[in-house]
Amino acid sequence: MTITFIGHGYVGLVTAAVFADFGNKVYVIGHTKDKIENLNKGIIPIFEPGLEELVKENVAAKRLIFTLDYKISIPDSDIVFIAVGTPTTKTGDADLSTVLLVAEQIAKNLKGYTVVATKSTVPTGTNKKVRRILEEFRPKGTEVDYASVPEFLREGSAISDTVHPDRIVIGAESKRAQEALIKVHKQINAPVILTNFDTAELIKYAANSFLALKISYANAIAKLSEILNADALKVLEGIGMDKRIGDKFLSPGPGYGGSCFPKDVKALISIAKDNDYQFSLLEDVENINHQAKRDIVRKARKILGDFRGKRIGILGLAYKANTDDMRDAPAIDVINLLQNDGVKISAFDPKSIENAERVLKNVEYKKDPYEVASGADLLIILTEWNEFKELDFADIKKKMKSPNIIDGRNLYDGEKLRKEGFTYIGIGR
Ligand code: UDX
Repeated sequence: MTITFIGHGYVGLVTAAVFADFGNKVYVIGHTKDKIENLNKGIIPIFEPGLEELVKENVAAKRLIFTLDYKISIPDSDIVFIAVGTPTTKTGDADLSTVLLVAEQIAKNLKGYTVVATKSTVPTGTNKKVRRILEEFRPKGTEVDYASVPEFLREGSAISDTVHPDRIVIGAESKRAQEALIKVHKQINAPVILTNFDTAELIKYAANSFLALKISYANAIAKLSEILNADALKVLEGIGMDKRIGDKFLSPGPGYGGSCFPKDVKALISIAKDNDYQFSLLEDVENINHQAKRDIVRKARKILGDFRGKRIGILGLAYKANTDDMRDAPAIDVINLLQNDGVKISAFDPKSIENAERVLKNVEYKKDPYEVASGADLLIILTEWNEFKELDFADIKKKMKSPNIIDGRNLYDGEKLRKEGFTYIGIGR
């Protein structure tokens, strides 16, 4: 089949590369000339394991074509996926301006029969707006069906999540569109949920908000465990073994971040409010998430007392491991709060320093964890990178001004580190 993706962020780029690898001809439309030229050379703007190779192979095989032009790709396509960003507006809603703008461009270039599907996370009811635009701007004699096909891939494991998803959700109301979308996913072995547009749109928000809720629940249990002197990791292991609960997304930490959970929880609260329902459960999910970051600072104060003149070393800046993404990373809030109180910050992250430099001021970036430890009064671990799991703590202790660790991802054996002379505080233990 011939497919066009509009947008080459995580969703657009990864899904396009996977569909090209399945043997389809895939166009990806962007709007920045430099980025498109780079992508056609196999230079990708994000770090995602395996993606550069996959893009390079499929560009070389001429199955993956990056372009600025709607005029060639859209008329040639059986399916067009909209995968542009939907950032949060000041009021907490999703900003749909790009989705609606590209829908018009697509409509104007349609030829024959085409399925236009949104992959971007869009509020329930957006389908009506996109369908109206498609109908208004499509040339006479063309036929178009709309669909909502939300994407559930995670950064860091995006390719494998796309090839082996837990389910495929297809919100399409015409048989012809359903068949085309089932056909394009035929190499993927996963159950398909066929439903209407509004339901498909809501599934995405409901799924992400539920996962965020699990994380906030784990953070709340961690907090309570600290007060009650219980071990939160055991409590969460104990509840996670119940198949009805499941053991995934129950790791307490500095709070969820990234481009999806914070934005989608906010948007679902706002969608509910617009429809006269106060989703207070999700408001608490957000509050607990903010508290998780403030708690790291509270623990730092517990160890250091007065912050003035102190240096804190941060290990990990990205919002999670295996990505260079700094969007809504807990490290931003934690570092800002510490700096507001006069703390000097040194930091290391294996992949995200370049992105961190754009959002953080006055941070001394170092080339490894040992340089960060050098002269620090406290080390705080904020991202669970594999390379932080096995550090030479004897060397770290020698280098630090005082041997204090806040393990924001529970990577280490606290008892062992305490025996080695560290003051150690984890999350919920
Ligand atoms: C998420 C969804 O998982 C994915 O389905 C959707 O398509 C996009 O949003 P992503 O943001 O890439 O994916 O990362 P994810 O692995 O879900 O982690 C999100 C945040 O939650 C990270 O900050 C992570 O550190 C945090 N997290 C996750 C926890 O704090 N504890 C956990 O147990 C799991």
